[in-house]
Amino acid sequence: MTIPKYFSWDYRSKVEVGAGCRTFIPQRFGEMGCRRIGLITDEGLVRAGIVNQVKEIFDVQGQPGIVGIYDRIEPDAVMRVINDCARWCRENAVDGLLAVGGGSVLDSVKGVKAMLGMKVTDIKEIMPGNIGPYLAPMGKPLNIPHIAVPTTAGTGSESSPIAVIYNEEQKVKGDLLHPYLPADYAFLDPDFTVGLPPKMTADTGFDALSHAVEAISSPGDNCMIDALSIQAIKLIRKYLPLAVEDGKNLEARTRMLVASNMAIMAFGMSGLFYPIHNIAHAVGGQLRIPHGEANAVLIPILMERYPKHYLPNAPVLADAFGIDPEGKSPEDLVNVCARSVRELQKRCGVTPVFAQELDAQTAELMFWAVKMDPSGLFYPLPDSVIKECIHCSFS
Ligand SMILES: [Fe+2]
Repeated sequence: MTIPKYFSWDYRSKVEVGAGCRTFIPQRFGEMGCRRIGLITDEGLVRAGIVNQVKEIFDVQGQPGIVGIYDRIEPDAVMRVINDCARWCRENAVDGLLAVGGGSVLDSVKGVKAMLGMKVTDIKEIMPGNIGPYLAPMGKPLNIPHIAVPTTAGTGSESSPIAVIYNEEQKVKGDLLHPYLPADYAFLDPDFTVGLPPKMTADTGFDALSHAVEAISSPGDNCMIDALSIQAIKLIRKYLPLAVEDGKNLEARTRMLVASNMAIMAFGMSGLFYPIHNIAHAVGGQLRIPHGEANAVLIPILMERYPKHYLPNAPVLADAFGIDPEGKSPEDLVNVCARSVRELQKRCGVTPVFAQELDAQTAELMFWAVKMDPSGLFYPLPDSVIKECIHCSFS
């Protein structure tokens, strides 16, 4: 008999799901007492017409209104841009933050929210050494109403208490952790993900898969995490290939948004045990490889090269991947799960290694970036595993 360990559960975002649910956004801001909404996004989404679709809802419904659109968010949540966006919010007396975009936009807005709430003008002030560990009870309410509308299904950033912020001067990604970072409302509207190209659909979907896998295999795992992660993995295995094949499949798009949200809920509550993300952060920081793509390549590599991490909860992982555990050792189960991820990679057109070549100097820099990453400091991987994983990730 194994008695479950103590755990608590915290989930701050209210989640609204369904095609067209975006029409409730102005009403929710009104209910939170906002009058001057700042819409924060990137230029690509302006060009794609998505920003206009959101703005029109406000124009038709009247109050509250959009006071301005900040569309200068760059790939990765870059510190310089976050500082600029916070200044823009102050100058425009913004009293509600509306984030519309993928992980970079959503994480940038979380950085802005933390800056406004903690009253700083440079995000480095609250992230010394690129870490901002404001865990409860240190993290106090930030008191800025915030709604997030993801336009990709994968990061789950709309509802997570973590923002991965890029220090462009040092070329490293840091973590901001704060219990009030999740949006007050997350609107999962599949109409905004139908235009996502197949590669981005696949890569971001694999980010969600990596969250669920990291959550299940975390030493901080519990039965709520298992429930969410198992179902998220089942949904991803079934619906990601469908969404990649036909971007307009609204059922697949909706279920992927939900899977992404479930996976981040599990990931956010599973502690700081993230070997896949540990290496993905270094790959992203040094080579600017998008986060989803980095995780898509690294999931099976970590399972194959560091099985020890996955053995304790191998039966749960196997359950998620639909594998019959009968007659199989934990080692066999982890192996078969890795094979299942590789099959999913093939079905979704994900390459098993990064396309770039890796020179010795970059490999060395990456090795140290893995070791110095916040997740690497908290849960260090053996040096030999880091080197092997980096080596195997490049052609
Ligand atoms: Fe991630």
